Amino acid sequence: MTDPISSAYRLLEASQVHYQGRVVGTIASLDAHAPAENYADCFVRDFVPSGLVFLLDGRHDIVRDFLALVLKLRDQQEEVEGHRAVAKVMPASFRVLCNEAGEEEIHTDFGDRAIGRVAPVDSMMWWLILLVAYERVSGDTAFTRSPECRRGVRMILNICLQDRFEIFPTLLVPDGSFMIDRRMGVYGHPLEIQSLFFGALRAALELLDPEDTESQAIHQQSCKRLDQLTEYVRHYYWLDEDRLNRIHRYRTEIFGHDSENALNIHPESIPDWVSDWLPPETGYLVGNLGPGRMDFRFFSLGNLLAVLFDLADPEQGRRIMALFDQRWSDLAGMMPVKICFPAMEGDEWRLMTGSDPKNIPWSYHNGGNWPALLWAFVAAALHAGREDLARRAHDTAAPRLYANGWPEYYDGRNGRLIGRRSNFNQTWSATALILSHKFIEDPSTLDVLSLKGYEKR
Ligand code: GLC
Repeated sequence: MTDPISSAYRLLEASQVHYQGRVVGTIASLDAHAPAENYADCFVRDFVPSGLVFLLDGRHDIVRDFLALVLKLRDQQEEVEGHRAVAKVMPASFRVLCNEAGEEEIHTDFGDRAIGRVAPVDSMMWWLILLVAYERVSGDTAFTRSPECRRGVRMILNICLQDRFEIFPTLLVPDGSFMIDRRMGVYGHPLEIQSLFFGALRAALELLDPEDTESQAIHQQSCKRLDQLTEYVRHYYWLDEDRLNRIHRYRTEIFGHDSENALNIHPESIPDWVSDWLPPETGYLVGNLGPGRMDFRFFSLGNLLAVLFDLADPEQGRRIMALFDQRWSDLAGMMPVKICFPAMEGDEWRLMTGSDPKNIPWSYHNGGNWPALLWAFVAAALHAGREDLARRAHDTAAPRLYANGWPEYYDGRNGRLIGRRSNFNQTWSATALILSHKFIEDPSTLDVLSLKGYEKR
């Protein structure tokens, strides 16, 4: 057994986390020299590709046990002093430890232990998306529509739909609240959270109880929010040649309801790189949007999930994939996929990351290349009818990942170097490859990720 897929499977098997005699997760990295202690945890977001592989291999129990455990762990979250009790997020990660009496104990991280104390907003959204995937493959509605699961679904919707100080239909979050879990100027309304929010709402709509009055009200509210969110993201986040030109000539400082430049984006804020870089007939959803703020950086996962879940309309989806095609060396390069483009350098890096040495230009979150994104790339490419790109990405990644021992990330403009502080034996680098392989071999397996809870327009 010496091919990349068999080797990836060996890593997946070795990464399994056991609790009370059952497999309940996979640890993030098997690298004994990992730079941070929590790489030995099972991360909710890292488990998603593991879980999808287990589902497609008929090992449904593992996914059910993971989903049930994470749901239970949510109730363990301690309240922050001085806050009123509010609906709770799901943990970023957990691990099973043996106490002095030899009993198993679960230790969780809700952001209270995480480096930088970042809030894992994405966990609950991934949980919902995986719950629907589990139902789709196993048909086990006894679990997915049980009172506990449905209570979990309602709690997630309550926390996401709660009103705060909002003006926009998008979800407002602090910095580092998703896969990019360090300070990176991704507070506010980052695209990845909006794509996940969209997917999670669609997932939840499938699971709510139509007979229950409380659920009916949440159902109605979720549908309205989905309408608003879709329209807003497709319009305001979208950037192509035509729109860039319009922003370039925007009038500013216009008060009232009818301004084309509602967010008061100053044309002076368009970075130099964009206009030369964006080919005609392509486009993408910008990384973030707020008052007087358009973050023009290209974030891959947010764009890919927008394509996959149909937050982007079909034409936008086609153009996003065309951008990957035409800017391949920037966005995929020698190790698909670039996490964000371009990197921040100089003062921008200093001010936006807090001089983070792990996030120096073209490294880690700041423009590094992440194999864990491969499955989302392949799924989005197939969904948009670009099998050629799916194969190209898979075939580029497979031999290198295997030869290099499953690194967590790569550095450099084109992802040529193994990441300076990268782990080896990173589980989601391996599971992303297995999953990509499965999607390409049999595209009907993509159905595992289909969301039927909301009819897109
Ligand atoms: C890092 C990544 C995060 C990932 C975790 C475990 O913190 O930034 O996205 O979930 O490692 O692999």
